[in-house]
Amino acid sequence: MSNLIKTKNLCKTYVNGEVKTNAVCGVSFEIEKGEFVAIMGPSGSGKSTLMQMLGFLDRPTEGDYFFEDRNVVGFSDDELAKIRNEEVGFIFQSFNLLPRTTVFENVELPLLYFKNRISKKETERRVFEALKAVMMEHRVYHYTNQLSGGEKQRVAIARALVNNPELVFADEPTGNLDSKSGLQVMKILQQLNDSGKTIILVTHENYTSQHAKRLLKMQDGVLVSDEVIKNRLIADGESGLIK
Ligand SMILES: Nc1ncnc2c1ncn2[C@@H]1O[C@H](COP(=O)(O)OP(=O)(O)O)[C@@H](O)[C@H]1O
Ligand SMILES: [Mg+2]
Repeated sequence: MSNLIKTKNLCKTYVNGEVKTNAVCGVSFEIEKGEFVAIMGPSGSGKSTLMQMLGFLDRPTEGDYFFEDRNVVGFSDDELAKIRNEEVGFIFQSFNLLPRTTVFENVELPLLYFKNRISKKETERRVFEALKAVMMEHRVYHYTNQLSGGEKQRVAIARALVNNPELVFADEPTGNLDSKSGLQVMKILQQLNDSGKTIILVTHENYTSQHAKRLLKMQDGVLVSDEVIKNRLIADGESGLIK
């Protein structure tokens, strides 16, 4: 089976004047389609930097990154944007929804990239389908500031899904949520993985990471362990979605 992701000695060094920070250093691993991987480590260990490189939001300063067997290090910004728009979804700690806009407008956003190829009717169908998957279709014309934190994150997940991406990144997705809303988010991520999506979850919390199937640990920019999670946690129905 071919890998979805393969990195070889991936490094990112930030330079600010005289100060050099090796945020990520010599990281090599492989991820296959359909995996659910948690990247865990303390604050400042390089998790977000690694995720941004894997998600084509930032470039490594050293090393190779193979995505679907293509070395993307030499790709142009446009080529990277194409992969990012067509194959990747992102969920962030602070939701990153646009203020003063509706749920519909937020979820529709990634589809605007395809507007010459997708009709208005199809756009609408996909937005409703994505909102349905996170039980938020009843809030489609609400403004984002009218939602609770948990609802905002569910809308952000719908936005990440609307392109039907192969790969979903979630960077501390439960970090700003109460524990019940956090479990709802973990339940959705597990359901997405059950349906075949590859999930890469970034977290500093051991408890949250235990919902994944594999654990990569980072420390000071270095990958220090890579293990299968035995007896992983399943986000239960008790705490499940409110219809
Ligand atoms: N844009 C930047 N410029 C300089 N240093 C940065 C930048 N972004 C992150 N860093 C540094 O790189 C290291 C790793 O950061 P980050 O990837 O955000 O860690 P984590 O997500 O694990 O908290 C930290 O020391 C951080 O201060
Ligand atoms: Mg981070």
